[in-house]
Amino acid sequence: MTKEETYKIIYQTVSLLVDGEQDSIANMANTVAVIKENFDFLWVGFYIVRGDRLKLGPFQGPVACTEIRRGKGVCGTAWERAESIVVPDVHKFDGHIACSSKSKSEIVIPVFKDREVVGVLDVDSEYLNAFDETDEKYLTETVKLINF
Ligand code: SME
Repeated sequence: MTKEETYKIIYQTVSLLVDGEQDSIANMANTVAVIKENFDFLWVGFYIVRGDRLKLGPFQGPVACTEIRRGKGVCGTAWERAESIVVPDVHKFDGHIACSSKSKSEIVIPVFKDREVVGVLDVDSEYLNAFDETDEKYLTETVKLINF
């Protein structure tokens, strides 16, 4: 199966799971589970905006830092810029926060509510250069299914 086909299945599965469920924590939890089950990513999870920092939300993978300040790391930078960031090599991203030494590449997708960033979806891979525009496109569409 191609990456695109896998993402289409993820999108359909998440649509069914969030249908009729309004609780964003429950929906984030199932969304990360579906993504993690379908790809061999190291870590998939949400960070949620709480004041001036991000707090760890539903995730699957190794334990992670519980908070990240606005503008810090890849997650805090994606929040500040209100845009997705694809990091082919985390060691080349200035200020990258290493929650796991196994992580080599990363993608962060901001989550919006009423045009405000209310959180981010963070996905880490053990492999260099694991993410591209296809991941960005489908992960962006998938998080939009959740009502925040
Ligand atoms: N690498 C992230 C921190 C979160 S962990 O990867 C789960 C960052 O630089 O923001």
